[in-house]
Amino acid sequence: MVSKEEEFCSTGIKELDIQMGGGIPLGSTVLVVGSSGSGKTTLCMQFLINGAKRGERGVFFTITEPLFKLTKNFEGFEFYDKKLIESGMVNLIDLRIISERLGLDAEKYTVEDAGALLDILKDIAEELNVKRLVIDSITALCYRLQTKEMIRDFIFKLGTSLAAMKCTTFLTSEVPPRTFRYSQYEIEEFIADGIIFLGDVDRRGDLIRTLQLIKMRGTAHSRTKFAMSISSKRGIELTPLLKS
Ligand SMILES: Nc1ncnc2c1ncn2[C@@H]1O[C@H](COP(=O)(O)OP(=O)(O)OP(=O)(O)O)[C@@H](O)[C@H]1O
Ligand SMILES: [Mg+2]
Repeated sequence: MVSKEEEFCSTGIKELDIQMGGGIPLGSTVLVVGSSGSGKTTLCMQFLINGAKRGERGVFFTITEPLFKLTKNFEGFEFYDKKLIESGMVNLIDLRIISERLGLDAEKYTVEDAGALLDILKDIAEELNVKRLVIDSITALCYRLQTKEMIRDFIFKLGTSLAAMKCTTFLTSEVPPRTFRYSQYEIEEFIADGIIFLGDVDRRGDLIRTLQLIKMRGTAHSRTKFAMSISSKRGIELTPLLKS
């Protein structure tokens, strides 16, 4: 019999894992959707750090923030352990530097460029033997892919090869505030196996962060909206959102 630990990838965020009956099905591609400042990068980093603490290696590809800013921001969080970065359990890589080294155009990728980038991502994941991978953000990457077909092909191929390695992937998706959209190009959400939506609700003038599981293929999850807090001490935490 396969144990739950072998089937699921625990996010380490208790309420979220409970929602999915233990965690995300291994090898899933999950879209982490939210507007600016909704907590996408924090959720992804906490997912990687929690994995590393369980002995699962991870890689974080950033396109939107330079590495020095990313690490500086996370040093304020207690869950963040610099030693995990130094030991290579969590690898931080600037995707713009990779595409520069590949000689790719900074603005637009051809089909060949996209193929070269895909190969590099797969090689890095394989070489490091990662079980968790993040691209922050897939929106910025899709912007460089010129057609919906290229976007579909890129995410599908990336997801398929990472799934074969039982590597669970988080892709961040930037959407405008207070809209019921899950992706910029309306392709990403259909290819992803899961969608975690970060939003907010107004409670008497106070803007409360929320997290909702929209889909997670292979699990019978609820679609309960949780109140989400971000604190230096505990990072992201969820509590049921009480109806007023
Ligand atoms: N040390 C901290 N303690 C508590 N809250 C923090 C801390 N650091 C950041 N935050 C909160 O987290 C928010 C930013 O979260 P994050 O960077 O994960 O959002 P994001 O969705 O990735 O944003 P963007 O789309 O701009 O990249 C900040 O606006 C701040 O409110
Ligand atoms: Mg971010």
